[in-house]
Amino acid sequence: MVETVFEELKRYVRFGEADERALRALHPAAAPRFANIAEVFYDRILSHEEARKALVGGESRVGHLKETLVSWMDTLLTGPWDEAYWQHRYAIGRVHVRIGLPQHYMFGAMNVIRAELARIAWGRFHAAPDELEVVRNAVGKIVDLELAVMLHTYRDDLLAQQARVERLSTFGQLVGSIGHDLRNPLGVIETSLYILRGRVGEDERAVKHLDRIGEQLGIANGIITNLLDMIRNRPLKKEPVALGQVVAGAAAAVKRPDGVAVALSGLEALPAVDGDPVQLRQVFVNLLENAVYAASPRGAVAVRARADGSGVSIDVEDSGPGVDPATQRRLFEPLITTKERGVGLGLALVKQIAERHGGSVSYSDRAEGGARFTVRLPSPAAE
Ligand code: HEM
Repeated sequence: MVETVFEELKRYVRFGEADERALRALHPAAAPRFANIAEVFYDRILSHEEARKALVGGESRVGHLKETLVSWMDTLLTGPWDEAYWQHRYAIGRVHVRIGLPQHYMFGAMNVIRAELARIAWGRFHAAPDELEVVRNAVGKIVDLELAVMLHTYRDDLLAQQARVERLSTFGQLVGSIGHDLRNPLGVIETSLYILRGRVGEDERAVKHLDRIGEQLGIANGIITNLLDMIRNRPLKKEPVALGQVVAGAAAAVKRPDGVAVALSGLEALPAVDGDPVQLRQVFVNLLENAVYAASPRGAVAVRARADGSGVSIDVEDSGPGVDPATQRRLFEPLITTKERGVGLGLALVKQIAERHGGSVSYSDRAEGGARFTVRLPSPAAE
């Protein structure tokens, strides 16, 4: 059987049955002190200006975390230190990675545990120095293993991120070169179209078809411009934008089946925002296309806009299945898609455009089921 990382780590620090016995021997003396250690542990975090930022959510949340730490310490000293144990520890590590907790705090935090357990070990075993030595060693090993597993989760996350960045840069290069290559044939079509227009004379149907070709050429060029803009981060062409009209225009442009109703509210009362109207339209076209897709073939899409002291918020909601928690984490990353034939650029572009306007986009589940995307944009009129 292939040795797991945890097995290998255990072998490296030479964690064996003697250590397991020593940890179990410490447990009866340590267990009554767990709540106290949890106090010391979280006091240390809360008294540190930077670390405490991770504990958003107030006292009740810390209360819950203290309980989880007590049960963490309980299993730390009782095991069994099998594969399931390490998988559970790995999952805890991933929770920290998910909330973006800097890994350097882990050393200091783990040292609190180490020091407190060492003190208890001394209290319990100081009359038997040999036993004390064994217990202290065992505590040192298990705490080092815990730390190693935590850092392992950070490393895995970094590797996954790196793989995504590589995928993206290849994709970016590909899109860039396809974009450039398409400009040439489109340019030739445009020139030929110009020449044909001069020759077609009074044939109405022919004129109509030439107009259609011209229109489609414009759309194709627009798509390429958008893609290249996304890669190059072109500066915005900012002007005062009547956002309500932009959103209504986007809603009218998005195709939908008869079974999906789109309701708009609050758009008339929106103040102007300072932005690039073409790019802002793209934001709402993308969100509405997704919403209609999610709500199809039968369902509802609602756009609710409002202004507050600092800007405007626009919710785009749908009655579809919502986004599962695993996808939510990476929802705004490029190349993430749940559509059968999607590329996964839409929401990434929404995020990029919103942020370049000094705004943001976020996801939340609707209480009644379905997805809600909220775009926030600053508005000079709202300040
Ligand atoms: C020795 C180091 C640490 C241990 C053993 C530990 C243990 C745990 C455990 C058992 C959980 C519950 C995980 C779950 O929900 O399954 C947790 C979550 C959490 N920990 Fe830690 N922790 C450590 C360090 C820290 C530090 C240094 C901070 C903050 C500066 C921190 C902040 C949090 C937060 C905010 C959560 C909740 C995250 C969420 O559910 O959204 N932890 N930790």
